[in-house]
Amino acid sequence: MIKVLFVCLGNICRSPMAEAVFNDMLKKSGLDDRIAADSAGTGNWHIGKPPHEGTRALLAEKNISCEGLFARQVTKNDLEEFDYIVAMDAENAGNVRSLAGFSQKPVIRRLLDYVDDCQTEDVPDPYYTGNFEEVYELVEEGCRQLLNDIRRENHL
Ligand code: 4NP
Repeated sequence: MIKVLFVCLGNICRSPMAEAVFNDMLKKSGLDDRIAADSAGTGNWHIGKPPHEGTRALLAEKNISCEGLFARQVTKNDLEEFDYIVAMDAENAGNVRSLAGFSQKPVIRRLLDYVDDCQTEDVPDPYYTGNFEEVYELVEEGCRQLLNDIRRENHL
């Protein structure tokens, strides 16, 4: 199984949205038996909480389930377990890289690094902006390109 971990700060807004959107894409393309996604936060404030109501409302509007998602914090073990760590912004990518130390594995990139000619490099934090629609558009495009890359790299 190829394993993908989406990472943001609180694991209640952006990364659970990416997890739900990506898992929905996997299901629809019949790749859910080859690739699996999870999410976590670099912060610990919201451990055990379901996604933010803004994320839940947006996903409901798009008919994408986020049942059973609860916030957790990134651990060192995640670096062993996951093949791709996909951070929502530079700060979170940097924090995961610090945890990884000198290890060359796994691949740690920002979600929007996968999108050619993207206007922004970081997914803005809707916890502060309140704009969940903007986040959804970026997350959806990022997940689509990420999936294309993973398929190409793994001949799927
Ligand atoms: P997220 O958003 O990283 O997309 O889940 C945040 C959620 C909570 C906080 C910050 C960002 N917080 O400071 O509590």
